[in-house]
Amino acid sequence: MAKIKCVGLLTSGGDAPGMNAAVRAVTRAAIYNSLEVKGIYRGYRGLITGEILPFKTNNVSNIVQQGGTILKTARCLEFHEPEGRKTAYKTLQKEGIDALVVIGGDGSLSGARIFAQEYNIPIVGVPGTIDNDLNGTDTTIGYDTALNTIMQAVDKIRDTASSHERLFFIEVMGRDAGFLALNGAIASGAEAAIIPEIWTEVDQLEELIKTGFRKSKNSSIVLVAESEITGGAMGMAERVKKEYPQYDVRVTILGHIQRGGSPTASDRILASRMGAAAIDALMEDQRNVMIGIQDDEIVYVPFSKAIKKEKTINRDLLNTLRILSI
Ligand code: F6P
Repeated sequence: MAKIKCVGLLTSGGDAPGMNAAVRAVTRAAIYNSLEVKGIYRGYRGLITGEILPFKTNNVSNIVQQGGTILKTARCLEFHEPEGRKTAYKTLQKEGIDALVVIGGDGSLSGARIFAQEYNIPIVGVPGTIDNDLNGTDTTIGYDTALNTIMQAVDKIRDTASSHERLFFIEVMGRDAGFLALNGAIASGAEAAIIPEIWTEVDQLEELIKTGFRKSKNSSIVLVAESEITGGAMGMAERVKKEYPQYDVRVTILGHIQRGGSPTASDRILASRMGAAAIDALMEDQRNVMIGIQDDEIVYVPFSKAIKKEKTINRDLLNTLRILSI
């Protein structure tokens, strides 16, 4: 295999706290290994439009603590089309970039997989998403920070919920996954989490009401994962108004606040390890793998496995939440 000389680096999809720490780690580990680094702006869009700058160690100074991504990000529809990917490949050739590191979630890694297959380019993925929905890694960059943001917001809402003796549905992000809702509920001492993973198994709202919530409490907080199937927090509140009108219900949608803020120590460390590991992987001739972490060890996960929507909810956590919310 031809020796890699120049690595292109991009962040793509929804930003996640810790992406900057990963950008810093990839850049510095590459330079440490005598590789050239080029920063590609605005995700795959920058590959198509050629928004690319050489990166030196000082381009990534003072960013480990910053949320967002200095490389900017985008959801690039053109890259879904073969024509867009062809233009992107031409840019790589023009810039002399012979390998890519893509920091992003499942959409970004799905794009990386197709691109790598079509043009035979070594690509390594770094899982950056607050949703924690990538398979083959215990956690993703940004997830811990988002959980902490959720916990702090719920702590505040609890004050008003309890003063007014209300039932609050708080909607959190996650796309189709309930990790943020479930762990956010445990961390904030919420009464329940309504998650898409078990939606077809049980009517979670009915269960919440039937298990006699509020017998020992005068207010209740339920975290609801955003989801088209459940209708999210609004869907739940509408049902309660119709089916259980005795409750005083309110809805809070936390929204994009969950994607912002300075990354936690845990996310900074994870991003630093994964970013450095992405360069190790390229030096070891790995290609088309995502860096994962399992039992505190770095692993390489083939893209095909990482993007399968197979990551399961830990049932023990659901049980713990049920037990602790009596
Ligand atoms: O994938 C990260 C995420 O924040 C999801 O949790 C959410 O559904 C989505 O991105 C929102 O995307 P956008 O900011 O493009 O609306």
